[in-house]
Amino acid sequence: MKILITGGAGYIGSHTAKHLARFGHQIVVLDNLSRGHPWAVKWGPLEPVDLLDLPAVQGAVQRHRPDAVVHFAAYALVGESVQDPGLYYRNNFVGSLNLIQAMVEADCAKLVFSSTCATYGNPQRPLLDESHPQSPTNPYGHSKLMVEQVLADFDRSQGLKSCALRYFNACGADPEGELGEVHDPETHLIPCIFNALIHDQPLKIFGDQYPTPDGTCIRDYINILDLASAHRLALEALEARKPLRPAYNLGTGRGHSVREVVAIVEKVTGRKVPVEICQPRPGDPPSLVASAQLARQDLGWQPEWTDLEASIRVAWDWHKRWF
Ligand code: UFG
Repeated sequence: MKILITGGAGYIGSHTAKHLARFGHQIVVLDNLSRGHPWAVKWGPLEPVDLLDLPAVQGAVQRHRPDAVVHFAAYALVGESVQDPGLYYRNNFVGSLNLIQAMVEADCAKLVFSSTCATYGNPQRPLLDESHPQSPTNPYGHSKLMVEQVLADFDRSQGLKSCALRYFNACGADPEGELGEVHDPETHLIPCIFNALIHDQPLKIFGDQYPTPDGTCIRDYINILDLASAHRLALEALEARKPLRPAYNLGTGRGHSVREVVAIVEKVTGRKVPVEICQPRPGDPPSLVASAQLARQDLGWQPEWTDLEASIRVAWDWHKRWF
C-alpha cells in the first residue's frame, strides 16, 4: 500500500514508518515539524504541511493519492493540554477534521487513528478494556475522543473505514539505533529519568500519595515496535475489508509505578537516580493498565517486548549516545 503517515517525524510515527517500509509499503510523511524531527524521516518523502492549513493538506493528499492514512500528528502532553486547551482542540481536533475532509475528497477511505488510553479518564476497574466508559480527565484525552466520535460518523455516512488504536504509554527505541524518543520539552517519564542521570538533577516524581501500592502513578508501558506492528496489522485488516471494531487498546496488561520504573532504570544503568517528590500533575489518573485482548483476537497482534527492562535497555543505549 501507499501509506500517508501524518506525524511521521515524531516518536511513534517514525518507528511505524520504518516498520511499514520494511514490510514493503510505500511511505509518505506529512508533518509540520513543530515537534517532529527531519532526521527521523528516512523511509519516504516529507510533505512539510500543517494540518490546520486545509488547502495544503488537500494538495498533499491529492498529489500522493494514498491507499491509506495513519494519523499520528497531534500534541500529546497531558499537562500542557490542561494549561492550553485551545491549542489541543485546534491542533488535534480541527487538524483531524481537515485531514478527514481531504481524504473523503480524494476517495481515500482507510484510516488508522492514533488514539489514547487518556480517553478513558479515571479507571473504574483495574484493567481497562474497550467497553470501559470514556470520560477523559484532560483536554488531550477529550480532543482524541472527539476524533474517535467523528470517525464513527464518517464511517456510517461517507464510507471512511477507520480503526482507532488507543495506546497506553509508549516506550523503547529502535534496536538498530536509527530512531529513539526525543521531545522538546521532554516530559515523558523514561527519558526524564535518563536526563536526571545525565544532568545529575533530581527526577521530579509527581505525587507519591496516589491510591497505589507505593503511592506513585501506575502506567502500562508498551514498546514502540509492538505499537508499530499493531498499525500494520490494522492497515492490512482494513485493506482486506475485515470487519474491525472502532477501537483497540494497545498495552501489555501489566502496570509499573513511577518508582518501579526508576528502579528498572537504576538496574539497567547501574546508577542511582536522584529523585524529588513534587505535587501531583493535574489531569494524571492514578493507574492506567490495558486489557488488549481484542487486538490480539481481531488483529492477531502479539506484543513481543513484554519485559520493560529490555525496552528500557534499548532506549538507554540510544539516549546516552544522543545526549
Ligand atoms: N512522571 C513523573 N515525573 C516526570 C514525568 C512523568 O513522575 O518527570 C509521571 C507522571 O506523573 C505519570 C507517569 O510518570 O504518572 C507517566 O507520565 P508520562 O508523562 O510519561 O506519560 P503520561 O501517562 O502522562 O502520558 C503519556 C502520553 C500520552 C498518553 C498517555 C497515556 O504523553 O500521550 O501516556 O497514559 F495518552
